[in-house]
Amino acid sequence: MDLPDIKIEQVITKIKELPTLPDVVFKVNEVVNDPSTSAQDLENVISRDQAIAAKVLKLVNSAFYGLPGRVDTLSRAIPLLGFSTVRNLVMSVSIFDLSAITGFDMKGFWRHSFATSTIAQAIARADGLPDAETQSLAGLLHDIGKVLLFQHYSEHVQAVVELMDLKNMSFVAAEKSLLTVTHTEIGAAIADKWSFPPNIKAAIEFHHNPDSAGELSDFVSVTAAANVLALRHEDEFVLEKGFESASEFVEPFYQLTDNSYRSAVREIEKQMQFFENFIDRMEAFRRPSPLLEQEAERAKGDSGIWRLPGE
Ligand SMILES: [Fe+2]
Ligand SMILES: [Fe+2]
Repeated sequence: MDLPDIKIEQVITKIKELPTLPDVVFKVNEVVNDPSTSAQDLENVISRDQAIAAKVLKLVNSAFYGLPGRVDTLSRAIPLLGFSTVRNLVMSVSIFDLSAITGFDMKGFWRHSFATSTIAQAIARADGLPDAETQSLAGLLHDIGKVLLFQHYSEHVQAVVELMDLKNMSFVAAEKSLLTVTHTEIGAAIADKWSFPPNIKAAIEFHHNPDSAGELSDFVSVTAAANVLALRHEDEFVLEKGFESASEFVEPFYQLTDNSYRSAVREIEKQMQFFENFIDRMEAFRRPSPLLEQEAERAKGDSGIWRLPGE
């Protein structure tokens, strides 16, 4: 199939057209990063956006957290969950709303993102790295460029997926050989548009080649390691095979320790149950987007729902 090249200028226009992230996301990030923040400060910030506050409370009350009784206020939820969990919930709720693409397996995409986030945080915590909370966010967002790619260039993505299957290649290898612009480049431009902090942007841009991230390469190497572990986890073999096998996979990026490996396995088992619950709830209160639905219907054609690769 001959597809026209993706025009960079067109991609830039599409990125400019993306809605801005709700203010609350930035404010929450700011207060969570400030060591002098109190639970009250965080509550005040989130409460300014009632729609987001309500969604966070709904999620908090989902079965996963197993909190004692119903939690009706943020002031109760925040100390129970911790700042970074609340920050990640606010971020997830906001971005999920903006990434509605029907016809694609968005659940698969978010499952991979969530698994990467969970593993990155577990590794960082176990190895005593300074940025465990930010690692979680970086993992969640590392493939954000794919959302735009899937949304506007679905035929190209389909061609990439076909090549992947045909040649047994990774997504990123097939993407590089077919497209003029990659999900990491698009993601980096989105990171600029949404004013993400430099380490999150670097994780998005360099998670397939962390050595290119300059002074942030230590940070990005954790995202890179978590990404490959999350992919292997989806194939359900490396984590079962044990530390030796897992550390071999991540070795190009990161020196996994027995402790960080164990911690990643423990967390992923626990958190993926949460994910299933989270994603169902997110679907349930996502804003309808008729325009995207039309576009997706058109793109989907006869092939039905597409598989969305995580790599
Ligand atoms: Fe990627
Ligand atoms: Fe990925």
